[in-house]
Order: sequence, then structure tokens, then C-alpha cells
Amino acid sequence: MLFKSLPLFFLLFSVIYGCSGRSDNSADSSALTPQQLLGKQLFFDIRLSEPVGQACASCHHPDAGFALPPQRPLLAVSPGANPVLFGNRNTPTIRYAAYIPALHYDKKEQVYVGGLFLDGRKNSLELQATGPLFNPVEMALPNKAALLARLKEAGYEKIFRKVYGETAMINEQHTVSQLTLALAAYQRSKELSPFSSKYDAYLQGKAELSAQEKRGLDLFNAEDKGNCAACHPSEKSETGQPPLFTDFTYDNLGVPANPQNPFYKQSSEVNPDGENYVDTGLGAIVNDKLQNGKFRVPTLRNIALTAPYMHNGVFETLEEVVDFYNTRDTKKWPKPEVAENVNKDELGDLKLTKQEVEDLVAFMKTLTDGYKVK
Ligand code: HEC
Ligand code: HEC
Repeated sequence: MLFKSLPLFFLLFSVIYGCSGRSDNSADSSALTPQQLLGKQLFFDIRLSEPVGQACASCHHPDAGFALPPQRPLLAVSPGANPVLFGNRNTPTIRYAAYIPALHYDKKEQVYVGGLFLDGRKNSLELQATGPLFNPVEMALPNKAALLARLKEAGYEKIFRKVYGETAMINEQHTVSQLTLALAAYQRSKELSPFSSKYDAYLQGKAELSAQEKRGLDLFNAEDKGNCAACHPSEKSETGQPPLFTDFTYDNLGVPANPQNPFYKQSSEVNPDGENYVDTGLGAIVNDKLQNGKFRVPTLRNIALTAPYMHNGVFETLEEVVDFYNTRDTKKWPKPEVAENVNKDELGDLKLTKQEVEDLVAFMKTLTDGYKVK
């Protein structure tokens, strides 16, 4: 089937994925450049997988804050285009991913900062994009030639030419880089970083937080209470940049392994360690045991839409997440997935009351984009 026009394509996508287009979380494309528009079309195109049927948006869905849409029962990690294959990690939101800096070591603070993927293994959106296309547990295209053939079959030549002129799709290598540039351009567009939550409106003086949300914000910021802002900063930067709710550093929170993670049961080709698999996160990337178990601090924007939580999807609700921060060291929680390098200074015994836990959750719910200022 050829979907040559964009509106027809979106109609089909809507049918297939129930993408309602009801909020500003989705489809106003008027502000996109031709390259971003091409990137958007590619991002939603389910024909770029083997077998056909999985787009970037299947796992990074606009109605789910560009993370995996809710599955019942909640899935720890995303199935691939081949539905019996699973990756090892929970799908993160890609909203605000445009702001993630390249992985680097901050000598002054002595910490690693930045890098895409939860372990920082890719340095830019351009470098990241080819991963899922050819990853056997994701979109699973066999090679670049197959991608080029799919694009031609789908009638992309004309749009590529509009964006890239004479050099459009002249060979496999060019086509892959043109495609990744377009996908990255779309992911850098305002559509994916709209800063349109209730909290943004509050920071601009255009909305009031409820009493409970305000209490939650205060707990979030207070060093002797939630202390969340120590890693998930909540205030505008000196340059006026609205907060991203991450400082892009890495931590091992002592998150337990998730026995529900279907990755443990994957074939030995995909997961040679079987049930004994341990996700060492940053440690494996920088080849340093002192970084084992650490994952990049994720943004909390749109967090109400992106359950389950943590790198392995072990927690199903925000209440559970906050309960973990609050009582990790005082109640019986399963042991950490990686026992070394656990952060024992900033969390684990916060002494929050049940009401305070609920207040924190209420505050996090103000971080969902698409708030309509009354
Ligand atoms: C099968 C589900 C799936 C598909 C399809 C998929 N992704 Fe992802 N995506 C993931 C998972 C899981 C991660 C986290 C992986 C990790 O950290 O190792 C991720 C991570 C990312 C990140 C990094 C986010 C961050 O916070 O570091 C970006 C950007 C991204 N994906 C973009 C894309 C694009 C573009 C496509 C299409 C070409 C795509 N994804 C297709 C599941 C998917
Ligand atoms: C020491 C740094 C640090 C502090 C303090 C901190 N966090 Fe986090 N937060 C992280 C890291 C790192 C992760 C990801 C861990 C993982 O995936 O294993 C995370 C993950 C989360 C997640 C899940 C995000 C997702 O997309 O799955 C939520 C929700 C969250 N934090 C909320 C909070 C709240 C609320 C507080 C305060 C009570 C807080 N955090 C304090 C570092 C921190």
C-alpha cells in the first residue's frame, strides 16, 4: 500500500493506533519545516519495520508522552516488530530528548553527564536514530538496502528531493543519513518540547497550583523532605530556560530487578545470561565498575503518562515510586538489581507521611503537556 499524502497517512495511523489528536500532544504540524515534516512522517511510518507494523511512534506514542502506550497488563519493556522479541529496557519518553547533552565527564563535580539512551551510549539524536531501525528486538530491518527499498516502495523519493535536492536518496549511505537527520530534526522541533504543562503556565504566572500541588512542589524542592530537585531540578535556569527536571547525571537508586521483565526469558542469542542477566547501565558503557547500576536521571515531564517506571519498569505507579524513595531503607523492598554504588545519601528514608507522598504525586501530575490556560 502506498501512502503518498501526509493527511491520508495520518488518517491511517489514527485508525491503527487510535491516535486521537485531541490535545496539543499530537498533530499541529503547521510550525514544522519541510525537513521536520519528513522526520515526522518517517517517525509515524509503520512500513519501516520487518515485518511491517512498527513505527518509532508505536513505542514512543504521542498520547503516552512519547513513551510506550499503556498496555494491560503493564509491560515492563516494549515488544519489537516481531512481537515475541523484547528489548531489555522500559521505553523512555523522547519529549525533551533534544536537550540531552553528549556524554561527558564533569571534572569539577566528578560525575558523568548526558548521553542518549538510559546508559548514555549514543551522543546525539542523529546517531541514535539508526539503532532501532536495524535492532532485531525493535524494528528489525535487515540492512540499509532493505531500508532504501522500503522508502522507495512507500513513495518517499519526492519528499526527500524536496528536502535534500539533487543528493536525495542517491545511495544507501546518503539515504540513511538523510533519514536520521530528518528524524532528529523532528525530535528537535517544538512539537516534542512544547513546555505547555500546568507547571509551565504556573511559572509564567498564567495558572495557579491547587493547595495540594503547591505542597507537593514545596516537598519536591525541600532538601530536608523529598529532595527531588537535587537531581530533577524544578526551577528556570539563569538564562530563562524552563526546567527539564533532570540534571542529566547518573545514579544507582537501588531499584530492584523486575522479575516480570520478559527479557529474562529471551533466547540465548538475544540474552546470553538468561535469568542471571543484570543491567549494569552506565558502567558497561564507560567500562568502570564504580558506575555499575547507574542510569541517567530521566526528565519528569509527562511522567503521569509514561508508566511503568524506572529503567526496567519495575514500578507501576507514581505512588509506588515515591514510596520507594521514602522507605527503601526502612521497609522490606526486594534487593537492588545492582548492589554496588547505591546512593545512600539522598534517598531511602525520607520520613514522608502518606499525605506528603500523595502531595508529591499530585505535583508530578502538573508536568503533563497540553494544559489549556483558562
Ligand atoms: C520496540 C520499541 C521501540 C521502537 C520501535 C523505537 N524505540 Fe526508541 N527507545 C526504546 C527503548 C526501550 C529505549 C531505551 C533503550 C535503552 O536505554 O537502551 C529507547 C530510547 C530512545 C531514545 C533515547 C531517549 C533517551 O532518553 O535517552 C530516542 C531519542 C529514541 N528512542 C528514538 C527513537 C526513534 C527515532 C525511533 C524510530 C527510528 C525509535 N526510537 C523506535 C524503544 C523503542
Ligand atoms: C540522587 C538523584 C535523585 C533523586 C534525589 C531523586 N531522583 Fe528520581 N530518578 C533518579 C534516577 C537516576 C532515576 C532513574 C533510575 C532508574 O531507572 O534506575 C529516577 C527516576 C525517577 C522516576 C521514574 C522516571 C521514569 O521515567 O521511569 C520518578 C517518577 C522519579 N525519579 C521521581 C522522583 C521524586 C518524586 C523524587 C523525590 C522524592 C526523586 N525522584 C528524587 C534520580 C534521582
